[in-house]
Amino acid sequence: MPIDYSQKIPNNVNLAGDRRLQRALEQWQPGFLDWWMEMGPIGFQNREVYLRTATSVDAQGWATFGHVRMPEYRWGIFLAEPEPERKIAFGAHRGEPAWSEVPGEYRAALRRLVVTQGDTEPASVEQQRHLGATSPSLYDLRNLFQVNVEEARHLWAMVYLLHAHFGRDGREEAEALLRRRSGDSDNPRILGAFNEPTPDWLAYLMFTYFTDRDGKYQLASLAESAFDPLARTCRFMLTEEAHHMFVGETGVGRVVKRTCELMREHDTDAVGRFGGIDLKLIQKYLNFHFSVSLDLFGSELSTNAANYFTMGLKGRFNEESRDDDHRLDTAQYAVERPVEGRIERCEGPALLALNETLRDSYVVDSARGVARWNKIIRDAGVDFELRLPHRGFNRKIGDWSALRITPQGEIVSTAEWDAHAGEWLPTREEREFVGSLMRPVTEPGKFAGWIAPPARGINHQPIEFEYVKS
Ligand SMILES: [Fe+2]
Ligand SMILES: [Fe+2]
Repeated sequence: MPIDYSQKIPNNVNLAGDRRLQRALEQWQPGFLDWWMEMGPIGFQNREVYLRTATSVDAQGWATFGHVRMPEYRWGIFLAEPEPERKIAFGAHRGEPAWSEVPGEYRAALRRLVVTQGDTEPASVEQQRHLGATSPSLYDLRNLFQVNVEEARHLWAMVYLLHAHFGRDGREEAEALLRRRSGDSDNPRILGAFNEPTPDWLAYLMFTYFTDRDGKYQLASLAESAFDPLARTCRFMLTEEAHHMFVGETGVGRVVKRTCELMREHDTDAVGRFGGIDLKLIQKYLNFHFSVSLDLFGSELSTNAANYFTMGLKGRFNEESRDDDHRLDTAQYAVERPVEGRIERCEGPALLALNETLRDSYVVDSARGVARWNKIIRDAGVDFELRLPHRGFNRKIGDWSALRITPQGEIVSTAEWDAHAGEWLPTREEREFVGSLMRPVTEPGKFAGWIAPPARGINHQPIEFEYVKS
């Protein structure tokens, strides 16, 4: 079904054919816009931004680009095309037809999954709302706003499911999604990483690389869901998510590139004096954002995750291409865990280890971008290597959180950790220093001194295109 843009709420779910649902969502819409104006990007709301909007949901050319004011962005409900006669791929219901409605017995569990995912979307907009004031270029400013409007659309995606499939509870949850606030002590967002501030652009680029990538893995496992509307919603969200991770990977790569240029130019590792960010400091930011994002996958062993899988609600990454029985009643999986002061790989029931299974896929994927950043460093003739820290480093959730682990994966005492933490994580002074570099650059085609220009512009436009009009 094509996307109907003649409606108040653009959609490809024939919303006009369900007047009650349409009315309920149209009643939610003004509250959403109020939230956007109150908690969305500070300033720039009257500026014309070169944004892409979905015009169809097929893989080829779903995006149309044009200058729009953000409050006029057409947030809507877009589900990937249904797969005819789709069958459940895993769990106790494997082989049965996928569900178009929520089975009563799984209602509470599914609602929890939808609400938890939905809550991260507005949270990231709130975390990033102040960044427009310090953007390193119009190109980066536009990318920030693109990510922001799409995260807000992801909120729509989850709110649609809540309204369409969860009755009154769903409507109440949809309201609550507009009321929680990132970092608010009384009414915070649900997950820890989404209450952390995103204080500067390096933190933002790391966030889009590491934390949006967690989003990719959560969405990919929900895209396997037996509940077909959730699966189709997540499949389309994944196509938007790819851009967010592109912003992170190319963004960090450009910071690395600029740092290497300054190192060569001034023949020093300490480029702070020349307005750059040292590779060692980039490593510390990486350590922080990787470890915080790992926490989002939850405990190593989890009966919740096992239940979600067996019920058919949440699968593994690339479930269908895996070569096993997709039920995992007897399968084993090796998990690296601290055991009595040592780090060991322990075989255990695969069903209980599904969080770790997803985290493993994520770690492999995260390493790919790091390898590309290292290529930039090597190509510049600089002798330095960025590394993902050990997965136990700086963890707040799961088995590792009880211990102090160095980035190299050694267990150390709290005293030793405290003595060295400033070598592994950005110190307050270092964060202040990075903050001091964050001065806005608003002339088309110009870039702040701490980041290199991108290789190319957006949608074949030149780099000096006016991505945000003044
Ligand atoms: Fe998202
Ligand atoms: Fe995202």
